Amino acid sequence: MKALILAGGAGTRLRPITHTGAKQLVPVANKPILFYGLEAMAEAGIVEVGIIVGDTAGEVRAAVGDGSRFGLTVTYIPQEAPLGLAHCVLIARDYLGDESFVMYLGDNLLREGVAELVASFEKQQGEAAAQILLARVPDPQRFGVAELDGSGEVVRLVEKPAQPPSDLALVGVYLFDARIHDAVRAIRPSNRGELEITDAIQWLIDGGHRVRSQILDGWWKDTGNLDALLEGNRLILEAIEPGVEGLVDGESRIEGRVVIQPGAEIVRSIVRGPSIVGERTRIVDSYIGPFTSVYYGCEVVRSEIEYSIVLEESHISDVRRIADSLIGKQVEVSRTERGPRAVRLMLGDHSRVDLF
Ligand code: DAU
Repeated sequence: MKALILAGGAGTRLRPITHTGAKQLVPVANKPILFYGLEAMAEAGIVEVGIIVGDTAGEVRAAVGDGSRFGLTVTYIPQEAPLGLAHCVLIARDYLGDESFVMYLGDNLLREGVAELVASFEKQQGEAAAQILLARVPDPQRFGVAELDGSGEVVRLVEKPAQPPSDLALVGVYLFDARIHDAVRAIRPSNRGELEITDAIQWLIDGGHRVRSQILDGWWKDTGNLDALLEGNRLILEAIEPGVEGLVDGESRIEGRVVIQPGAEIVRSIVRGPSIVGERTRIVDSYIGPFTSVYYGCEVVRSEIEYSIVLEESHISDVRRIADSLIGKQVEVSRTERGPRAVRLMLGDHSRVDLF
């Protein structure tokens, strides 16, 4: 079985971070989100992976390469514009051939991987044309939503409905056999101008093809917005294997589930888990955590950070305290005693700042 991983799209809900980078490469617990998906494919025994790439193709290619590091053979499939999830299947037709495949949204994080799902779809040998994964959510209007009949069969799927028929959201992992290719050719763009995979699956149901569904046990996060991204970071950190490979001086304290990556330095500071401090990052006279990931090459001096993600090579000094935040690459946050007592900002387009 092949996999189709979607790593194109616009990422508007994570601006300004996504003005300069792919949303699928934002690190969660200091690892790009996309890598969790690639690892899940390898774990499910899949080798051939097609990755849909858009404007951020260069960055995705540079990060993933030929896939050999994951035990995968990666083929890149360029999409000229984010024309919808079903459009991704349409343009991957030649790559996919007539085989069954798993489609995985590159910004989704799932605790339990996809191995079982892939195995069960292979075993059922064409009885169902598709298999979808569902999760109960408090805010179904943000997702594709499924309506099931009394026996648990899928009868209807709707994309981001104002009046959701249930609280069962479509998780970004789908299994299809070759019948999906007819479906994506038959449907028309939705009101938001996209070829929706929910419409393609509905087309299968309307044509009398069976669509199996399964409700997810473990956690799942669509990391497309800030709250979900920070939640995903928390969930991954809670299960991370602790280990100190960097330097921790005698005046520092490491509490709980903490990873200090090679070349990191902790000086006169407290790092409270679950947290991770990246390679070559220096934490001096500061407090980090819980639920915080600081990526590589950063410096945090006389500051406090909790429940946050800091991307590479950022410098933070004299700030008490940063919470619930996502800080981009090579950002500088500092305090000055000179000049008027004012907040001085140089923020990118679509930045968000909460002051108190
Ligand atoms: O996360 C689950 C949800 O994902 C489902 O419940 C929805 O039914 C499904 O439509 C999708 O909704 P989103 O609005 O979250 O999709 P998004 O535009 O964020 O795209 C998902 C991933 O696919 C993301 O990594 C970007 C990529 N993508 C998206 C589009 C529209 C592409 O590669 N090409 C595209 O044309």
